[in-house]
Amino acid sequence: MMLEIKNLQKIYPNGTHALKGISVNIKQGEFLVVIGLSGSGKSTFLRCINRLHEPTSGSICFNGRDVTHCSSTELREYRKNIGMVFQHFNLIKRRSVLDNVISGRLASIPVWNSLIGNFSQELKNEALANLDIVGLAEKAFVRADTLSGGQQQRVAIARTLMQHPQIILADEPVASLDPATSHSVMQYLERINQERGTTIICNLHFLSLVRQYATRVIALKAGELVFEGVPHEIDRAWFTRIYGEDAVEVEVE
Ligand SMILES: Nc1ncnc2c1ncn2[C@@H]1O[C@H](COP(=O)(O)OP(=O)(O)OP(=O)(O)O)[C@@H](O)[C@H]1O
Ligand SMILES: [Mg+2]
Repeated sequence: MMLEIKNLQKIYPNGTHALKGISVNIKQGEFLVVIGLSGSGKSTFLRCINRLHEPTSGSICFNGRDVTHCSSTELREYRKNIGMVFQHFNLIKRRSVLDNVISGRLASIPVWNSLIGNFSQELKNEALANLDIVGLAEKAFVRADTLSGGQQQRVAIARTLMQHPQIILADEPVASLDPATSHSVMQYLERINQERGTTIICNLHFLSLVRQYATRVIALKAGELVFEGVPHEIDRAWFTRIYGEDAVEVEVE
């Protein structure tokens, strides 16, 4: 198992019990999608995985090593394996697309080097290659904020590739995009998953996207794991149990 998560609990300082004992194993190469109502704990779950939020109890093992109680050096090493993609892209607006992609590697570049933008040709070439993977090589030298939302999200994906991540955590990567653009972004994640074997853990709102891209699904409800299976198992009855009696499914075409 790549990730073994056991009895993960998160209680925020204000007392909110956001995760109530989540246990799940995630294999290398999976495209795992996390679903559930707003407030069910999806983002908390993702953020606990790379300890952006500190779990209150429980354990996370990565390739057999416990990373819940590791030293700060080990934590840094662990985090290098994990790329993050967010709903709002988080690009540096006024810098070029290429600089944004390169910044995915900044943790391992001396600060003075990154400050003067003195990147090696090798690094630039790798960034260009990663931009090519997301179909944006021709945008390398324009300012990041001149791109559309879908293009910015693809830049964010290229940026995480600079880390050579074993896992990409994507927190609602398409929540602010239109349906066609959503599929385009999901297809790039799928391609990286299939061609590189990168494990993807992704929160999504639309079940039609879940059915198309997930190899496995978990559903959270009020901080508890209520479903684990493959997408086509989510029938009407499961849908109601996960989202509640009043929920109506909305399709992304
Ligand atoms: N930093 C925080 N401090 C206190 N409570 C928090 C914090 N972050 C999240 N919560 C609470 O934890 C619970 C789970 O939140 P979380 O953001 O994980 O849900 P979510 O499933 O990602 O929701 P959404 O679909 O709206 O993004 C909610 O009750 C939320 O209010
Ligand atoms: Mg969230």
